[in-house]
Amino acid sequence: METRPLINLLADGAFHSGAELGARLGISRTAVWNHVQAVQKLGIQVDAVRGKGYRIPHGLDLLHVGQLLAGMGPVARAMIRDVEVFDVVDSTNAVAASRLKAGGEGGYACFAECQTAGRGRRGRSWVSPYATSIYFTFVHEFLRGFPAIDGLSLVVGVSVAEALEAAGCRGVGLKWPNDLVAADAKLGGILIEVYGDVGGPCRAVIGVGINVDLSSVDMPPLDQPLIDLLRIGLPRGRRNDLAIALLNGVSLAVRDFERDGLAGFLSRWQRFDCLLGRPVNVFAGGEPIPGSAEGIDQTGGLCVRTEAGVQVFRSGEVSVRGVR
Ligand code: BTN
Repeated sequence: METRPLINLLADGAFHSGAELGARLGISRTAVWNHVQAVQKLGIQVDAVRGKGYRIPHGLDLLHVGQLLAGMGPVARAMIRDVEVFDVVDSTNAVAASRLKAGGEGGYACFAECQTAGRGRRGRSWVSPYATSIYFTFVHEFLRGFPAIDGLSLVVGVSVAEALEAAGCRGVGLKWPNDLVAADAKLGGILIEVYGDVGGPCRAVIGVGINVDLSSVDMPPLDQPLIDLLRIGLPRGRRNDLAIALLNGVSLAVRDFERDGLAGFLSRWQRFDCLLGRPVNVFAGGEPIPGSAEGIDQTGGLCVRTEAGVQVFRSGEVSVRGVR
């Protein structure tokens, strides 16, 4: 059932009678009710009040591809040839990967309102409720192969954190290697999947998920606390502005990184580094390794002072000791 036309009508947050909705959609009132139920199945709260009709409380802040295209700066325009906004997809990273498999190239970006099989790091799933977060994927082709993209996830993290700060968010942090955090809770994450030859050209599918407004969402129990952008200062109704800032910020950062490497991002990372100087456990395969985080090295590895001296980790997960 095509739910988007009804969602578009209810997105203003006002009541609309069944008769009005039926007339505008060209369907019967019974069919309107069936559509309302389908919208509710997407996890969207729809109030049905006798004598008033239907409404989505507080409305929805939907993405519009025209606004995104109009807001892209010169670097984003040069780097991204094609931008799409989907309603419901399995995963924006999966969409981008299928496009590559079908012969598509880099220079592609897409967003979705909802993902039914959002992917997180390490095989985890990424719960992706409708219009309450940003689900963004950007595909870029690196001509110099896999080694040239070491550190890419840090670069993307820095550009996203800077975009959030510029949008008015306070206390945004980066947790090595891929997490966006605020107040020790998870704000978002980055998942980069690489396709191509080790030595030759490869394509990076860069996925970014950011919680915008989870206040009306029933999240399943997760292994860490969540936070969203509205709670750290983003004004309501700014998802399109945010999506534009991501298109511009991430494309600019990827361009600079490809041209000049990681060096220019190290001090920018440090400003957001939420692990710096804190007691941590590093999970890099075997037993957790306790130590104190000392920032990242020139190649983006995490430096941790342990009993055995300073160790540099190239991959793994980190938790701050004493914080869930
Ligand atoms: C993490 O586990 O922290 C990374 C989460 C990345 C989620 C984003 S949402 C957009 C893109 N599409 C996906 O399926 N995953 C990434």
